[in-house]
Amino acid sequence: MMPLAELRKEYNLAGLRRSDLAADPIAQFKLWLEQAAGARASGRVRKFFVNLYKAMMLTGGGSPMDVNAMTLATADKQGRPSARVVLLKGVDERGFVFFTNYESRKAQELTENPQAALVFYWSDLERQVCVSGTVTKVPREESEAYFKTRPRGSRLAAWASKQSQVARDRALLEEKWQQLEAQYPGPEIPLPPWWGGYVLAPARIEFWQGRPNRLHDRFCYTKRADNSWQIERLWP
Ligand SMILES: Cc1cc2nc3c(=O)[nH]c(=O)nc-3n(C[C@H](O)[C@H](O)[C@H](O)COP(=O)(O)O)c2cc1C
Repeated sequence: MMPLAELRKEYNLAGLRRSDLAADPIAQFKLWLEQAAGARASGRVRKFFVNLYKAMMLTGGGSPMDVNAMTLATADKQGRPSARVVLLKGVDERGFVFFTNYESRKAQELTENPQAALVFYWSDLERQVCVSGTVTKVPREESEAYFKTRPRGSRLAAWASKQSQVARDRALLEEKWQQLEAQYPGPEIPLPPWWGGYVLAPARIEFWQGRPNRLHDRFCYTKRADNSWQIERLWP
């Protein structure tokens, strides 16, 4: 067994100062997301690590890391939590958009309790972003528009899967898939009524930058009643 207690890492890539932060947390988030994607890597040290990472991915034949992967935590009406990874598919003034099955476990919990949380972890930048707020469904047209952009296989999968329900075996899933392939031979695959997007409107967004000796920088944006944002430093 790997000696877990001995796995240690020092965080020393960069610091985060109050003066680095955008007044609006969505603008700050977009900047960090772009930096995580390597698109706007700034600073020589960060650039070095991002380039090193990319070089490793190229030689290793791997795909770029899922910078838009986020852990989504929901809770049922008794407050019992559950969490899973989903992909961020949009971020704008409304908040954070993701797509899923509206009958899945997460969706059932969101129906009972629309309060949810998201965590992004970008290990190569030693950063995390923690978001919490209220989730609502996106307009149907938005789900339709996004569904059209998905690869054919993913669109068929949305029809095939009773996401989160107990499946007897894999053969049943594959059988269903084949039926659907035959049912929709052309390019047009409609949006299943049970599939679509959600948007999490943030009430709180925290930006975390790892620092040496666990003296991390943390800044928390909290939404005020007048919709402006209060920014506070948190103890690490
Ligand atoms: C990297 C990654 C990305 C994923 N993206 C999505 C997604 O965007 N939407 C989704 O419904 N499930 C996605 N999944 C699958 C979910 O983690 C999860 O298994 C599924 O949504 C069922 O969750 P639930 O039973 O808690 O509702 C992803 C999994 C991984 C590992």
